[in-house]
Amino acid sequence: MEKRDELYAGKAKSVYRTDDPDRLILHFRDDTSAFDGKKKEALARKGMVNNKFNAFIMGKLQAAGIPTHFDGLLSDTECVVKKLDMIPVECVVRNLAAGGLVRRLGVEEGMTLTPPTFELFLKNDEKGDPMINESLAETFGWATPEQLARMKELTFKVNEVLKQLFLDGGMLLVDYKLEFGVFKGEIVLGDEFSPDGCRLWDEMTREKLDKDRFRQGLGGVIEAYEEVGRRIGIAFD
Ligand code: ATP
Ligand code: TYD
Repeated sequence: MEKRDELYAGKAKSVYRTDDPDRLILHFRDDTSAFDGKKKEALARKGMVNNKFNAFIMGKLQAAGIPTHFDGLLSDTECVVKKLDMIPVECVVRNLAAGGLVRRLGVEEGMTLTPPTFELFLKNDEKGDPMINESLAETFGWATPEQLARMKELTFKVNEVLKQLFLDGGMLLVDYKLEFGVFKGEIVLGDEFSPDGCRLWDEMTREKLDKDRFRQGLGGVIEAYEEVGRRIGIAFD
């Protein structure tokens, strides 16, 4: 596989074309951002940790029958993926109340959500990723009702697989964000799953082991990501 020109540089990853028009290379950088890019920092080892973390999770999801874009690791910080036509809608499932939900509704952080909630956000940094709904997505052409139904089904299927995986490692999967795209007519899970796009708490102490450590300036960000990985069986070196 030959790496060609850069297609896009996001806040945390750079995307490269390859000699195969259907494949891209994702380069996980050390750059970390929060609050729609307003807080930024480079954290040593983060690119490597998230690349390997994502590869492990995508493998688990693929094995559970969830179609993903992931093809394989290319290096410590790069992987090969199918080139998707990305749908600009982020799917969020919450098992416990935290973050935006607590701010919006004033509910208590940590309350169990039964059943888990499902929310949609428009992927648009300038507008601060506003919350949307299925009606708006259809009207403005961001996704069809059929695509949204499939995205919701897959997002909840991911919850069943990952809630148990993290629980086996003594952690609670509080919430997470997924992005999907279309590959040859099929809805496929894209982007990444790592502690950057989810919340994970220690089951007993409820210590935060995810990107909230960065958002809240708690320190030990990458150490926490590695601890999560170690608990679910990922070897980082
Ligand atoms: P955010 O942090 O809100 O996800 P970003 O664009 O800054 O936004 P990065 O992770 O830095 O995020 O950039 C990666 C980009 O690559 C994202 O725009 C993502 O939607 C896109 N992407 C991920 N997987 C694929 C894929 N398989 N095909 C095409 N584009 C993809
Ligand atoms: P949420 O609580 O709505 O937002 P915030 O991070 O501002 O408190 O986010 C729910 C989960 O989804 C959380 O684990 C972060 C993740 N997420 C992203 O990674 N990117 C996004 O653009 C959105 C909307 C959520």
